[in-house]
Amino acid sequence: MRRIPSHKELEALQKELQDKHDPDRTRILVCHTGCKAMGADQLLAAFKEGVASAGLQEEVEVVETGCHGCCAGAPVIAIEPQGIVYHSVQPENVAEVIEKTIKNGECVDSLAAESVDDKPVFKREEIPFYRQQQKIVLRNCGRIDPTNWEHYLARDGYSALAKALAGLTPKQVIDEVLQSGLRGRGGAGFPTGRKWQFARNAKGSPKYIICNADEGDPGAFMDRSILEGDPHSVIEGMIIGAFAIGAQKGFIYVRAEYPIAVRHAHKALDQARALGMLGENILGSSFDFEIEVREGAGAFVCGEETALIGSIEGKRGKGKFHALKYTESAELPDKDYPMLLTTGRLLYHFHTGTMTRRVESLEAISPEPFVEVNAEDAKKLGIADGELIQLRSRRGQTQAKALIGSMVDRGILFMPFHFKEAAVNLLTNDALDPVAKIPEFKVCAVAIEKVS
Ligand SMILES: Cc1cc2nc3c(=O)[nH]c(=O)nc-3n(C[C@H](O)[C@H](O)[C@H](O)COP(=O)(O)O)c2cc1C
Ligand code: FES
Repeated sequence: MRRIPSHKELEALQKELQDKHDPDRTRILVCHTGCKAMGADQLLAAFKEGVASAGLQEEVEVVETGCHGCCAGAPVIAIEPQGIVYHSVQPENVAEVIEKTIKNGECVDSLAAESVDDKPVFKREEIPFYRQQQKIVLRNCGRIDPTNWEHYLARDGYSALAKALAGLTPKQVIDEVLQSGLRGRGGAGFPTGRKWQFARNAKGSPKYIICNADEGDPGAFMDRSILEGDPHSVIEGMIIGAFAIGAQKGFIYVRAEYPIAVRHAHKALDQARALGMLGENILGSSFDFEIEVREGAGAFVCGEETALIGSIEGKRGKGKFHALKYTESAELPDKDYPMLLTTGRLLYHFHTGTMTRRVESLEAISPEPFVEVNAEDAKKLGIADGELIQLRSRRGQTQAKALIGSMVDRGILFMPFHFKEAAVNLLTNDALDPVAKIPEFKVCAVAIEKVS
């Protein structure tokens, strides 16, 4: 590995690696991240041994990859160039896969990911789970060895960085990201270009860029999968972001309990340093940048950005209020729909396990749909605590029991969105939030009345 001094040399090296990569060569891509929990280690060893004992080392490459996307089928493998995907593969299936698929081009029915019309399907583009997907952020996950920088470069890795450093100003980079419509994966879907614009325009120095890879929701697959399966793309994105906002130092904040993500981040950072993608005069430009990994201890709140920053600074992980400015909702109350309904999570939503278990866990805590109503509003409308009320918006209606108190202001209603039968989100609108210009799906104007 050598330092790449310019974008021209990067292009030359990418070309060299692409020429070296024979697309017709048989590759067995074994998911070696999350699938380890279901025995991918033993499976990988069995494939390496099976290929060697069949004398196929020259023709067949066994590649350790990140997540392929359908973790419920663990351990997952894919066979290229045919694009065959097998699920729930065990070491005892290896001999059959080598004999049938690798040597004779036949598929193994018992390892099919899915069936269509009672017939097993094997090709990625035919399997219902995969065929509708167009992977953008995760394009390399499951396709490359995340610990091998050559794989990343061969798929045009670091080209976007080279383009930014060689020919664009920070403002042009921000404009390009704004135009792309790229949004954050942290939950709010905030437009990345706007965030970079705010950071660029913010007074003060030094500036830092932080990659939030905390992934407090286990199995949310928003941060961890990318870092595990394609760490160089995270690093490249951070360098471009740092150039755009004017930062010279970055942090990857990742949970210590995600050891594969931590390991792959460290390895990719070492490689990026050796290639000259980090450090001084990146790709021959005047831009300098470094990244450090900070391991989080696993507090859920430390995924929240202000708590996360505190934690990096060595303080107690505790959220801070931002300077809030009140902005009117995109949909305002009027005489037909005189109140504003907000929907969202309750505090204990954050302590109820994974997304998939969440609804069941929440129903155990809060079994009946309810809507919080201000005591004065309730009095005016003649609604008693626990009474059933009808909520009507421009899009639909639903019913819930009134919970009367002082938690919401007059004119405001609050209803959590985990009650399947009340389906409160059917009431809310998809108008644009006036500040973020992204769909404001949690607020809408409603009318309420007692169900007689
Ligand atoms: C309690 C709480 C936990 C959070 N945990 C995470 C997390 O684990 N990962 C994450 O990316 N964002 C998390 N967020 C959101 C972050 O505060 C922030 O909005 C996000 O990192 C912004 O990044 P984005 O631009 O990629 O969306 C959390 C927020 C809250 C309130
Ligand atoms: S397919 Fe293996 S972790 Fe997702």
